[in-house]
Amino acid sequence: MFKLINVKPCKNDVGAFIDADILSSSPEAIEEMKIALDEYGVIFFRKQNLDSSSYVKFAKQFGTCADYPMLKGLDGFPEITVVEKKPDEQIMFGEGWHTDSTYTKEPPRFTMLYSIKSPPKGKGNTLFASQYKSYESLPEEYKKKIQNLKATFSADGPISKTRNNRIAEKGTGIDPKSMSAVHAIVKENERNKKKSIYLSPGHVIKIEDISAEESKTLLSYLFEHQTKPEFVYGFEWEPNCLAIWSNHVVLHNPVNDFTGVHRVMHRITIQ
Ligand SMILES: [Fe+2]
Repeated sequence: MFKLINVKPCKNDVGAFIDADILSSSPEAIEEMKIALDEYGVIFFRKQNLDSSSYVKFAKQFGTCADYPMLKGLDGFPEITVVEKKPDEQIMFGEGWHTDSTYTKEPPRFTMLYSIKSPPKGKGNTLFASQYKSYESLPEEYKKKIQNLKATFSADGPISKTRNNRIAEKGTGIDPKSMSAVHAIVKENERNKKKSIYLSPGHVIKIEDISAEESKTLLSYLFEHQTKPEFVYGFEWEPNCLAIWSNHVVLHNPVNDFTGVHRVMHRITIQ
């Protein structure tokens, strides 16, 4: 399937490492990276050498850079959102299972995260849970049940409290209560036709068109199912790594298991 890039799938085929210098990759090699991204849900590159300008330029080959509604971007590079945990902070931005910006009408398809500073290797990992795998292993009756269901995703869902420190510093002033959207909870990839569960535990507040009680029961079953250990891979950061994931295919969860060091990531989301 891959002629120009070297792709090494991770445990359980959740995510894959690609051995490449992204800045010198040809457009054809980048096309293969997109195939790998669709196939494995998340791709990882180590030992890159990106500055903000080359990062944005590379990102644009995957689509249009999206706006992050809650925070202002980096000076001079509004496409880049700084995701950080400071040495004296306890809460980690984005902690808890979710997929990005699902409360917007058109949530970003892809997210890129480039590591600037990271805790010692093995701390502050980002966990990824494959929603191809979670869909595939659902009992048939659940596959049928959720096929045409939609859910309400809110910016004021359980994950919203993890943004408070950053919003105090560089918030855009948008009230999270004012942002919500309804989306189908099963996606199908256009290229490989694999189906995935599109439900973000950090944002989803209810399933549409069923009773509140039924919605609660179904969500607690699905949330638990979505992140079973056999669907999960934990990526160990070090500086200068790039992860690109499809928000349609994986959930992610940064592990908050360190303090006293500064973790700094530069994020770009792609429409
Ligand atoms: Fe996130």
